[in-house]
Amino acid sequence: MRRIFAPILAVGLLFGAAAQAEDTLSPLHWQSQGSFGSYDKAAVQRGFLVYQTVCASCHSANALHYRDLEALGFTPDQVAGIASSVKLADGSPATLNDVFKAPGVGAAAFGGALPPDLSNIETSRPHGLHYIYGLLTGYAAAPASVTLLPGRFYNTAYPGNQIAMPQPLKGNEVTYADGTAATLPQEAADVSEFLAWSADPNLNARHEVGLRAVLFLLFLSIIAIATKRKIWRETV
Ligand code: HEC
Repeated sequence: MRRIFAPILAVGLLFGAAAQAEDTLSPLHWQSQGSFGSYDKAAVQRGFLVYQTVCASCHSANALHYRDLEALGFTPDQVAGIASSVKLADGSPATLNDVFKAPGVGAAAFGGALPPDLSNIETSRPHGLHYIYGLLTGYAAAPASVTLLPGRFYNTAYPGNQIAMPQPLKGNEVTYADGTAATLPQEAADVSEFLAWSADPNLNARHEVGLRAVLFLLFLSIIAIATKRKIWRETV
């Protein structure tokens, strides 16, 4: 029997280690990180509200259609309401099949720096989730040794520390329907989680399939070991 337990124990330890590898660095716990992480839909919904209220006035998210919001747990009616509240360039309300409205901000507005499309920003920056959270909470007064270029703001997370994006979040830009206090760290964490979702919307399904596959293989190993022991019991 001991020989059956050893592999089970090994797999159990592996699971434990993977669970421990979950993020512990950030002030807020990122539920989507780690091998078995999944998006916290309430957080992603709050993040969408921050995105829509604040970020969408400068940034596009061309990979997202309004209909994609249903995957976040919004009801079809809510999504239809969100879409129809957006007025497209020709004045007509957006529909479910429209791409998120682009703000059409020119680079000239920010001294040549163009606000990048945010759909995939989380995967296109190293440590995306931490970086975006760090960026949004990293505005500070420039130290005396630093001379800021015109139209640049001091940011501890941005490479080179001088960013053309004015501080977008200070807290209380939105009122959350679920009663969560809209502090700066909360808004920054929620919108970072939303951007993680937009860059990798299938993470939940992927992790679920992975977990099932591991459990299946574990089950198969137990059967294989038991069968082997039964077959060889009397021959040795
Ligand atoms: C007033 C316009 C404006 C708003 C509002 C705004 N941004 Fe930006 N953002 C910019 C500009 C301009 C840049 C390019 C900065 C640069 O290249 O120096 C930028 C860059 C970024 C970057 C990329 C940084 C990098 O590593 O290149 C991220 C991420 C980002 N913004 C996230 C956000 C989020 C999230 C929000 C909403 C909470 C937001 N922005 C709101 C103007 C804005």
